[in-house]
Order: sequence, then C-alpha cells, then structure tokens
Amino acid sequence: MTDNNGIIDVLGVCGSLRKDSYNRMALQAAAELKPETMALDGCELAGIPIYDEDVFQKGFPPAVANFRERIAKADALVIATPEYNFSIPGVLKNAIDWASRPPDQPLNGKPVAIIGVSPGMFGTARAQIHLRQVCAALNMLVLNKPDILIPAAAGKFDENGRLTDETTRKFLADMLVALEQWTRTVRRRD
Ligand SMILES: Cc1cc2nc3c(=O)[nH]c(=O)nc-3n(C[C@H](O)[C@H](O)[C@H](O)COP(=O)(O)O)c2cc1C
Repeated sequence: MTDNNGIIDVLGVCGSLRKDSYNRMALQAAAELKPETMALDGCELAGIPIYDEDVFQKGFPPAVANFRERIAKADALVIATPEYNFSIPGVLKNAIDWASRPPDQPLNGKPVAIIGVSPGMFGTARAQIHLRQVCAALNMLVLNKPDILIPAAAGKFDENGRLTDETTRKFLADMLVALEQWTRTVRRRD
C-alpha cells in the first residue's frame, strides 16, 4: 500500500479508445462517486503498440513502460471493458498482455474491480467473464461482488456523458466502497 495519507490510489483503465466511449463515461462517473479516502485517475490505452515478442526482447516501448509504471504505483485498478464479440476488445487484451511480461509483473497480486457498459441488453456480462479468466491467469485479486453490468447505455448517460441513472450510480458507489475495503484487506503493506 502506498503511503499517501491513508488514501487508496486507484487507476481506471478504459478498454475503449473512442472519444465518446460509454466505458470512459462510467469511469468518469466512478471518479465522481468514489469515497473520500480514494483517489481515482484514468488511463488511456491509445499508443500501446501491438504485442510483439521481438520488440519485447529489445525493451518495453515508452507507452508500455508508462502503463506498467502506472499499474505498479496504483493500489488497485478499475477496468472498464466494452464487450466485443462476446469477449474483451483486442486493445485491452493487448495492453494486459504487455503488462503481464516480466520482470516485476505489475498486475501480480493487484486488486481489481471490473465494470462494463454496453448499448445492448447484456451489459458486457460475457466480456466480464472472459476478463475474470485473464485476471486469474495473472494472479490479480478480482472483487467478486457487487458486479457492475450497465446495459442499455443510451438511456443512462446524458448528452454531456454524465451518468444520470440513479440506480446505476448507487451500484457504482457501493462497488467503490467494496473495492476500497477489498484493497485494504488483501494488499500487502510495503
Ligand atoms: C467489433 C465489435 C464487436 C461488438 N460486439 C458486441 C458484443 O458482443 N456484445 C455487445 O453487447 N456489444 C458489442 N458491440 C457493441 C459495443 O458494445 C459498443 O460499440 C460499445 O459502445 C463499445 O463500448 P464503448 O462505448 O466504451 O466504446 C461490439 C462492437 C464492436 C465494434
């Protein structure tokens, strides 16, 4: 746990690159709804190259090194994943693959909460199951409950991208409290 006056530092990872991403909007809502004892900064995956073992052998590209450093410094992650073809987007899997490489695998033992937004009816349920499987491979400590599936996105955000659905806001706020408790419970104190 980093010593930051008792504040939990959380890194929000958006699995979508597009400007009007619902998943980024959900992370922005999380930053609004977090407990006072939590700091939540967003992180973008744009600029992370496609994983190539030959490139890895020569050293991490700067965007990857930066992503890994931000993960390492965070006490916990919130990953907001879109659902692409019943799974997680390639851009997110690619970033996780880079972050999983040695040395000092920054995802190992990292507490993480998963959220996801979709315009459709399933709220990224299938993608989240796949992401949990990936997290298990990396020994990440996934918060199991409450799970945050946000379906029918078009009716839940206003034209400025603000999450307006009160039920969803309450779920998200509760999840952030649970993530803080989970992080304080499982994180090794450095
Ligand atoms: C390649 C591709 C595959 C998709 N597959 C699914 C899917 O399996 N299930 C689903 O609910 N939505 C699917 N969608 C729609 C996404 O949920 C939608 O584009 C969503 O807005 C993406 O998240 P974002 O708003 O954060 O970018 C797909 C979109 C793309 C581009």
